[in-house]
Amino acid sequence: MDVKRKLILYISMSLDGYIADCNDDLHFLSVVEQDGEDYGYSEFINSVDTVIIGRKTFDKVKSMGFEYPHTDKEVYIISRSKQSMEGSFQYYNGNLSDLVTRLKTKSGKNIYCDGGAEIANYLLSNYLVDEMIISIIPVLLGDGIRLFKERNDTANLTLLSSKQFPKGLVQLHYSS
Ligand SMILES: NC(=O)c1ccc[n+]([C@@H]2O[C@H](COP(=O)([O-])OP(=O)(O)OC[C@H]3O[C@@H](n4cnc5c(N)ncnc54)[C@H](OP(=O)(O)O)[C@@H]3O)[C@@H](O)[C@H]2O)c1
Repeated sequence: MDVKRKLILYISMSLDGYIADCNDDLHFLSVVEQDGEDYGYSEFINSVDTVIIGRKTFDKVKSMGFEYPHTDKEVYIISRSKQSMEGSFQYYNGNLSDLVTRLKTKSGKNIYCDGGAEIANYLLSNYLVDEMIISIIPVLLGDGIRLFKERNDTANLTLLSSKQFPKGLVQLHYSS
């Protein structure tokens, strides 16, 4: 029997709930950098074949001088305005719920939501997030881009695991 593909939000946030600081900066992530420790990222990335990413997050990766890495996957850059292709990646400016619902009916590996907060909140409020893997970085930013923006009264989260690491990162894995 086919196992239904899941959409998984895999993201890092500060202890006080921000995914970027007030300057749209990600330097706070460096406090947990450690040689030989990827916090389960390689294993996770091998379990997905499709990526949903917000246009601002995609632009942020480019602005940092990196090529967006997942060239072996089906990548949708979600935008209300841009369309066409960027290399092997596709801008998608249709209805995001329709896209995710359609992807979930296809067979394949799981679907990775790479953020940012706008995309994550849209998917959460439309009950399209099946699991969340949240890495909590032990810093307090005080301000920035908040991960969870909307109250979700029907969220029914089950804790699948919690892991702690020597640098103080705590990783929480929930199903919803
Ligand atoms: N800490 C982490 O692990 C982590 C992970 C991911 C991102 N981030 C950070 O988060 C920041 C970006 O997050 P963000 O929340 O500001 O932006 P975002 O979610 O990455 O992108 C927002 C953009 O996505 C498009 N969009 C949003 N909702 C849509 C919808 N329902 N339908 C169609 N298009 C939609 C719009 O693009 P258009 O404007 O083109 O229409 C919107 O401007 C960056 O600083 C990034 O580095 C951090």
